[in-house]
Amino acid sequence: MARPPIAIVTGGAGFIGSHMVDLCLARGMSVRVIDNLSGGRRANLEHHRGEARLTLAERDIRGFEPGDPLFADADCVFHFGGIGDLVPSIENPFEYASVNALGTMRMLECARAAGASLRKFVYAASSSCYGLAEVPTREDHPIRPEHPYAFSKNVGEQACLHWHKVYGLPVNSIRIFNAYGTRSRTSGVYGAVFGVFLRQKLAGAPFTVVGDGTQRRDFLYVTDVARAFLAAAETPLVGRVWNVGAGNPQSVNRLVELLGGPVVYIPKRPGEPDCTWADISRIQADLGWAPEVSFEQGVAKVLANIEYWRDAPLWDPASIATSTKAWFEHLGRPRAESGDKLPR
Ligand SMILES: NC(=O)c1ccc[n+]([C@@H]2O[C@H](COP(=O)([O-])OP(=O)(O)OC[C@H]3O[C@@H](n4cnc5c(N)ncnc54)[C@H](O)[C@@H]3O)[C@@H](O)[C@H]2O)c1
Repeated sequence: MARPPIAIVTGGAGFIGSHMVDLCLARGMSVRVIDNLSGGRRANLEHHRGEARLTLAERDIRGFEPGDPLFADADCVFHFGGIGDLVPSIENPFEYASVNALGTMRMLECARAAGASLRKFVYAASSSCYGLAEVPTREDHPIRPEHPYAFSKNVGEQACLHWHKVYGLPVNSIRIFNAYGTRSRTSGVYGAVFGVFLRQKLAGAPFTVVGDGTQRRDFLYVTDVARAFLAAAETPLVGRVWNVGAGNPQSVNRLVELLGGPVVYIPKRPGEPDCTWADISRIQADLGWAPEVSFEQGVAKVLANIEYWRDAPLWDPASIATSTKAWFEHLGRPRAESGDKLPR
């Protein structure tokens, strides 16, 4: 009898990665998770306890060498492992480059050494590569990273495309817009709006809305993200880049309305777009993928699981001001003119 396909999910104990694990197992695959648990948690995979087709290697992606047995016979790699929080990247640019860029190269080298069994390597890229972009944003929009997180993720994507070009590695890259859903990150650093607001709701504290709340984000429910990654692994197409978003941006005020609760306003951060909005026509045409979970349905699912965020840090305007101080210092100052004149 043929063995089940083997998927490696880096960052599989994290938010999106754990949903990728769910989907791969549901499709009958064996799954090998690589995660150093710096941001992820074992609890995100607890519902699979006793599942013989799932293993978790608590290891740093940067410690792998080509030929590592974990990559033996692997059919596909879903590469989510990395540091996902934007704000601390301003103070730790090298650490972000080390994990998100060089760590990705390590994974590419291990995938290359896996040889013929490897049918696809799918990279979790970020829409932050577009910077302050025209919307709706297509994949051929100029690349303009505004901060070290965006830069490091884009270097990772460039590496994937380079390994495809030079070594013929069957790579695809998906630029994720704003994923949200159950198990979204609750790390100690100030970060994604959902985790911040859900903890505030549990505490009865006001939602710290950035700016006037009219800024819009292309929120996509996490199971739809995982479906896109599976489609990118199953397609015969290689060397491609796709946006993944709902293509239907929602304002932060709308999110507040759905969550329900008092609000306090905090200063808008420089370098952050007023609107993120994915043009998803390419992924729809190439992969036949389309979002399935509406924003209202997704927020309801998250609210039904709100206890998950009970242990998350509780942010208020003062603690947010402290943790974003370096961001304002660096990104708030006038930019050198020459930077914008570079050829794109
Ligand atoms: N969440 C989003 O909206 C979004 C948007 C664009 C791109 N992405 C990318 O998708 C990926 C997953 O994001 P997420 O939101 O699920 O974040 P997450 O922090 O929940 O998941 C990342 C996982 O990678 C693990 N990890 C970090 N450094 C590692 C290392 N050196 N070795 C091994 N494992 C390591 C963490 O422990 C964590 O489990 C990230 O690469 C992120 O940049 C996410």
